[in-house]
This record gives sequence, structure tokens and C-alpha cells, in this order.
Amino acid sequence: MAGAPTLEVLPDAAAVARRAAELFLRDGRDAVGARGSFAVTLSGGSTPRALYLLLADEPYVSSVPWSRVRVFWGDERCVAPGDAASNYRLAQETFLNTVPLPPTRVHRLRGEAADPEQAAREYEALLRAQAREAGTVPGGVPRMDLILLGMGADGHTASLFPYRQTLRETRRLVVVDDIPGVGRRLTVTLPLLKSARHIVFAAVGQEKAAAVAEVLQGPWDPRRLPAQGVVPRFGRLTWLIDRAAAECLRSRV
Ligand code: 6PG
Repeated sequence: MAGAPTLEVLPDAAAVARRAAELFLRDGRDAVGARGSFAVTLSGGSTPRALYLLLADEPYVSSVPWSRVRVFWGDERCVAPGDAASNYRLAQETFLNTVPLPPTRVHRLRGEAADPEQAAREYEALLRAQAREAGTVPGGVPRMDLILLGMGADGHTASLFPYRQTLRETRRLVVVDDIPGVGRRLTVTLPLLKSARHIVFAAVGQEKAAAVAEVLQGPWDPRRLPAQGVVPRFGRLTWLIDRAAAECLRSRV
């Protein structure tokens, strides 16, 4: 069983990004040292932009073992890769177009697919094909070394939204969901998220404070708060938040 989550409250969003970059480098070096490869799953939304820009700059651009990194995504909007809403485009234009990472090791979720169900099945096959290199948890689910996640003010993470059937998925690793008011998304499921060696949530801003407090200190209710259900089976869980996102926590950490 995993231990209690590590909660780090940083002064502001820039400090959260810097800390996330430090963890990215540390986990990357550890993974490559142990298994010769670093499998990292990126999050979308706007929060990770600051982290991604740091990765494209010194010291990270020259110290992360990029030639041994494999990049995946936790979710993608059903849009073209060049669309402003694309999580792939966010990573591509902030660091993937700069760091010396072979394009063959960038594994994009095909949000543009005419048949998203087919794209989900293809991605699941790709993830399962990582099993030999990445290792697995009992049951055969491949282990990402690092999964980066954000959280919405409603407690959603990746594209796992409150009360959705996708939260009950126990077999498939990648599914499609058409969320009312949000749109159609491809998303990894809890079985994949919970298999990670290290999960790092990054949440900043006052608009996340209520959800952060409910997820970290409120009653167990993962159907209402999907981020609360992301508990690693054998790995570590770290929450990086800024002071604004920490303001509803009962006690300062
Ligand atoms: C997405 C993300 C999603 C995101 C949260 C927080 O595709 O939107 O995967 O889970 O992390 O919605 O988004 P912000 O960082 O923009 O607040």
C-alpha cells in the first residue's frame, strides 16, 4: 500500500513550477538509472505551461536524460494536434520543440481521430506495450515513472469528471468520454493512474482552494471528487500547491 501523500505548499505558481521541474529531473534520473528509461505522463490545462517552459531551459534542457525519456499524455481533447485546446500542442510549443527528445519517444493521444474509440484502443495497446520496459503492477498494468496531473475547481483530473461512468472503469486503461458542457475527451483511467511510481498533482490559485481542501482533508468521496480517487497502489503521491490554493486547508503544513 502507498504511504500518505506529501503536501508541499509553495509561495506562488512560479515556485510550484520550479519544484515540479526539480521532481521531473529527480524522477527522470532515478528511472533511467534503474531501468534505462523514464516514462512520464503529461497533464493538460494551463497550469503545466510554466513547468514545461522551465524544462526547455537550463538547467533542465541539458540535465534531463532526454534521449531515454518517453512522453505520454493523461488526456487529450478531441481536437487536432495544432488546435489551441490541444494538450499535445501545449507541450509541443513549450518544450518538446526544444529538448533533444527523439520524436519516436513522444506518444501523442490522437484527439483528431475520426473514431476516438479506436484511438483509445490504440493508445491502450501502446501503453500495455511499455510493460517490459516500464515494469507493471500485479495484474499487468504498466507503471509510469511519473504522472503529472492537474485538478479542476470541480475536483476533476485528467478528463475524469465527477460522477462519470469512466470513474468505475477497472479494466480499460484509456477511454473516451463526452462530458456535458466540456466536450469529448480521451482520458486514461484510474487503473493506469494508480499504477504509477510517482503521481504529482500541481494546483495553483484561489479558485482551486476549496477543491484542494475537500480532496486532501474532506470526507472520502471520489465519485464527486475524482482527484481524491487517484491514490497510487504502490507508488508515491505528491501535491504541489501555492499559498492561494492552500487557503482553505484546516492547518498550515
Ligand atoms: C485538461 C487537463 C485537466 C486539467 C485541469 C486543470 O485537459 O484540461 O488534463 O485535468 O489538469 O482541468 O486545468 P488548469 O491547469 O487549466 O486549471
